[in-house]
Amino acid sequence: MVDLFESQVLGATVALKSRIVMAPMTRTRTSEDDVPNDLMATYYGQRAGAGLIVTEATDVAPSSKGYALTPGIHTDAQRQGWRLVTDEVHRQGGTIFMQIWHVGRMAHPSLMPDGEAPWGVTEDRAEHSDVFAHGADGRLGFIRAGTPRRLGTDDVSALVGTFAQAFANARQAGFDGVEIHGANGYLFDQFMNSALNTRTDRYGGGHVEDRTRFLMEVVDAAVRELGPGRVGVRLSPFGKYNSMPADPLAEETLLHVCEELGRRSVAYLHLVYQLMPAGNMESSEFKERHIDHAVLARVRAAFPGTIIWCGGFTDRESAQAALDTGLVDLIAFGRPYIANPDLAERLKHGWPPAEADPSTYYTRRGDVGYTDFPACSTAAAHAQADRGGSSRHPMP
Ligand SMILES: Cc1cc2nc3c(=O)[nH]c(=O)nc-3n(C[C@H](O)[C@H](O)[C@H](O)COP(=O)(O)O)c2cc1C
Repeated sequence: MVDLFESQVLGATVALKSRIVMAPMTRTRTSEDDVPNDLMATYYGQRAGAGLIVTEATDVAPSSKGYALTPGIHTDAQRQGWRLVTDEVHRQGGTIFMQIWHVGRMAHPSLMPDGEAPWGVTEDRAEHSDVFAHGADGRLGFIRAGTPRRLGTDDVSALVGTFAQAFANARQAGFDGVEIHGANGYLFDQFMNSALNTRTDRYGGGHVEDRTRFLMEVVDAAVRELGPGRVGVRLSPFGKYNSMPADPLAEETLLHVCEELGRRSVAYLHLVYQLMPAGNMESSEFKERHIDHAVLARVRAAFPGTIIWCGGFTDRESAQAALDTGLVDLIAFGRPYIANPDLAERLKHGWPPAEADPSTYYTRRGDVGYTDFPACSTAAAHAQADRGGSSRHPMP
């Protein structure tokens, strides 16, 4: 069995120093025009002890904006801003992939270009889910997602080209690879869900090839730009987050995607291990339920590349127990990375974890709750570990 601290070569291309991944987390700390900055470079650089960092979800285009203050990768300034981040992570000896998304219907006209409607696979609204946008009073906060307009077939094809350009930009910004965000109820997930995708065009829901076509065309674009060893895909099969309806064909879709990614020799498949509920991550449903291991064994058989699980891993023991199943290669930690920049070291030495304050997850308050967590070797870290907090916020 592999050890959590063993190295690995991802996609026969990218060397990782351990099996520990920092999960993608939106932190809304960009400068004007969604440009990454020195503060973000410091934040990611502090966490370069991870085997692999996956960045916060990054907008492929202005139409992808579902959360205020999230970064983009569609302008020169954004590309240059990300260069600060990749240079700092590499200087600290880390490896970093950019997570790229389109939020689809999980948006609001107040964030969209010219106040247009969010883009959807259909006109179905995410009735019970929030986005981080400007409310009627003009203030930023969590408000209900807007009603989407259904994308035309040509719009979807054009988006594939938009993704191709974003991958080129990510490469120029110095990233070691990209992760395509196909999870958590955003645009790719919306297309793949047979209950939501009732379209009848070539991207329509009836056949698995059709409802996964958009994702696969974008994967092909990424592989062309970066090579397969620098491409990963994140999925959250069976999740209900962001008002995703129960999908009777979820497993069929998952296994089809695994085979197609395998055929393309894509580096990794990143699974949100826990079954995401419709609401927030504090519900007992989220804490207790995860993807059936029988399904995960079929995933293992269908996909020959590296598999990552994320969700609910808090210590060395739980991560190692997952690796010991033989069904997974890397373990991603999300919330534990917020307050523990040196998480890998803490796990290795059994040092106590610090707790984050959820009110600082998404905020304009700069370094507070972001870059102000000390490494454990300092006394301040031990004091920090005593300050409590729990996650009550929705998240991307
Ligand atoms: C503040 C915050 C922001 C998040 N942003 C993203 C994101 O941008 N992309 C994504 O795929 N998942 C995002 N997630 C989900 C995490 O990647 C992860 O799946 C989730 O936190 C469960 O893992 P954990 O139990 O280790 O925290 C976010 C989670 C949190 C707490």
